[in-house]
Amino acid sequence: MDIKDLKKQAFIDLTKIQNLADLEQLRIKYLGRKSELTNILKSLKDLPLNKRKKAGEEANAFKKDMEIKIKNLESQFIGQVIRTKEREKKIDITAPGIKMPCGHLHPITTITRKIEESFQSMGFKILEGPEIENEYYNFDALNIPKDHPARDSWNTFWLKTTPEKLLLRTHTSPMQVRFMEKNNPPFRIIVPGRVFRYEATDALHSHTFYQFEGLMVDRNVSIANFKAVIDEFLKKIFGRETESRIRPSYFPFVEPGFEVDMRHPKGEWLEIMGAGMVHPNVFKAAGYVPGNWQGFAFGAGIDRIAKLKYKINDIRLLYSGDLRFINQF
Ligand code: PHE
Repeated sequence: MDIKDLKKQAFIDLTKIQNLADLEQLRIKYLGRKSELTNILKSLKDLPLNKRKKAGEEANAFKKDMEIKIKNLESQFIGQVIRTKEREKKIDITAPGIKMPCGHLHPITTITRKIEESFQSMGFKILEGPEIENEYYNFDALNIPKDHPARDSWNTFWLKTTPEKLLLRTHTSPMQVRFMEKNNPPFRIIVPGRVFRYEATDALHSHTFYQFEGLMVDRNVSIANFKAVIDEFLKKIFGRETESRIRPSYFPFVEPGFEVDMRHPKGEWLEIMGAGMVHPNVFKAAGYVPGNWQGFAFGAGIDRIAKLKYKINDIRLLYSGDLRFINQF
């Protein structure tokens, strides 16, 4: 091939270049060691002198020309690549968004808040107490001395490593004396929180669960007041048609002690909480003069209320972290 044909061919090939890869192929084809141009340059020495000069100039001019064209195309393509990259980096605010998965409150949290709200509307204050308790507040101050058989009703997780007898509170009642030591009546309080019992787990029991304690103390507080407060509470949570009743029961820290049941019209009675009038010994432990004050106390399982309200048949689901369960709320 002579230089004229080579130029023509190169002219056509140049128009076909689309990108840097094509350009590199072109460079190899026209300027590479095995290119037609190399052959032409090599064969110059075989030409007669008169032709050699002209042919040499022509071939070298072609080489220079190709080098410049390739260089120009190269910077053109590199510029293009940079511009596309920049464009990709820009945020397209018109593109449809990706929805962020959004969580929600756990049913235990939801029901706790509902319980708190209903008592707040009746003038109760909400506070919390420690989950690690000592023997005194969990038992002794509540009129449950060391060898009292009632201690067996609360299977206790004792924290063996401590010389002072610490335990995981078995109920929220220790906050009764803790609060009364620091506050004077009249008052109404609700203490929600986590409690622990050394028990086997099944559909109805868990070693860890939630309770709320209620305590109201004033000069004249009666069982009738208690009945009114609890009845209103149950109606707020379970609907206005809910009925309640009080039945005698026993807890060392109340006298008399009772159990509260609730039902929907014609439904079966369901036990919902333990309660009673504050025992004089508990007032004494708090530093009150027992004859001066009257009060009622109650304690209910939050899990149990959640279970009834949301019709959950296995308490363990509440602690499973299983999204198939949680997502139903
Ligand atoms: N603390 C009791 C329990 O856990 C419940 C209770 C509280 C009973 C207050 C009477 C008064 O079983």
